[in-house]
Amino acid sequence: MLYIGIDLGTSAVKLLLMDGEGVIKNVVSKEYPLEFPQPGWSQQDPEDWRRAVLEGIPELLTGFDASQVEGIGAGGQMHGLVVLDKDDHVIRPAILWNDGRTAKEVDYLNSVVGREKLSSLTANIAFAGFTAPKLLWMRENEPDLFARISKIMLPKDYINYVLTGVHCTDYSDASGMLLLDVEHRRWSREMLELCGVTEAQMPRLFESYETVGALKPEIAGEVGLPENVVVCAGAGDNAAAAVGTGTVGAGGCNISLGTSGTIFISSDKFGVDPNNALHAFAHADGGYHLMGCMLSAASCNKWWQDEIIGAADYQAEQAKITPDKLGRNHVYFLPYLMGERSPINDTNARGCFIGLTMDTTRADMLQAVLEGVAFAIRDSFEVAKSLGVSIPRSNICGGGSKSPLWKTIAANILGIPLDTLVTEQGPGYGGAMLAMVASGRFPTVQAAADRLVSVAATVEPDPQLTALYEERYRQFRQIYPACKTLFPNLR
Ligand code: XUL
Repeated sequence: MLYIGIDLGTSAVKLLLMDGEGVIKNVVSKEYPLEFPQPGWSQQDPEDWRRAVLEGIPELLTGFDASQVEGIGAGGQMHGLVVLDKDDHVIRPAILWNDGRTAKEVDYLNSVVGREKLSSLTANIAFAGFTAPKLLWMRENEPDLFARISKIMLPKDYINYVLTGVHCTDYSDASGMLLLDVEHRRWSREMLELCGVTEAQMPRLFESYETVGALKPEIAGEVGLPENVVVCAGAGDNAAAAVGTGTVGAGGCNISLGTSGTIFISSDKFGVDPNNALHAFAHADGGYHLMGCMLSAASCNKWWQDEIIGAADYQAEQAKITPDKLGRNHVYFLPYLMGERSPINDTNARGCFIGLTMDTTRADMLQAVLEGVAFAIRDSFEVAKSLGVSIPRSNICGGGSKSPLWKTIAANILGIPLDTLVTEQGPGYGGAMLAMVASGRFPTVQAAADRLVSVAATVEPDPQLTALYEERYRQFRQIYPACKTLFPNLR
């Protein structure tokens, strides 16, 4: 049997075809545009996602027996507001997870409604990328469009709707809307009311590994799949990536160095960070997780290499950072190119280099970028530790984890071993695993992970380097508080 995993990312959709033993048979990637209509705004047309998926599936199946496909599962960029009218037409471009236009609404939610109330209703407070503040923004700034909303959903839910005709979401992704009572896995009536929407406008809730429906006959015909292929609810991309790296059940940790950077701590019990610096969300295995999310991670490396130095070859640039340089860089970089979410929750925060001297090289600055991202992950790691969570080691995935240098830097800045997996295909792999559970190939997500996921290699921290980085991290921690009051005026 075969399974299709969909990773609906911010710059592209990645589709993978996997057999029943978790072996990847084919991968197809299709890019789509990302609009930044104003500084700090970020949006995308859901029709581009639809087109990319429907064109990508036939390509993915070329040369394979499509009748063997049993299930489809998606992991998608979280928090994006997708709104449909009464005819299920998309009303406006989706406002994405890294969009910062809702500073005013976030302030209203956290200060006027109050952090305590939000946390008691949803286990979380408001962050600019979350979905509820975007609804408030639409109500205020686009009242005519707001009045036309018939259904609200998240990015991968739109794809599931296209495939099955069912308006659905899953608990892991719904957690990031600030509309879900995460602990009890149901919509929060109070939050819906506060945002001026009703439960009838919300998608139906499923566990990630549950079937939401079968392919619509016309879609099956269009993409060349049998009509009885099941589509599972899927998950937010971080929960899907965690499934794909076997970070399920109690006490697992996964770090993702993608466009965003996340640290994801899985748990079989519901728990909240009392300061709400970490998100408290449902997991795709039926449990829960805590997560810190930084808005720009591997995208800082891409920005530096593509936009600033115009590097032809990322690896060649990184090769200039020789081992003797690690832990000794006097240049620091704050990676807040899109503002920042965890743990500082500051839409005004901006990127900056500090500590430059006449002998600073381009390699030092790249090193500062890679280190700055790892230091910022460490900020969330420290919050988790302060809650008494033990993180003796972690999985690592995402584009940034392909760099041995970046992994070494991260392992030494965090002071823990980092494991990479035999098959590292992120959210798409997790999505296909969820489809396997929905199709009955495995009884639980844990059983799928036990059978399909294994560690390929581990980067161990070096005690001497960890000590050097400890000192550097102490310096790094002082930079944001010193710059914080400057950022709002840098316009
Ligand atoms: C998580 C988050 C990002 C996106 C990236 O809260 O906003 O990781 O899901 O796709």
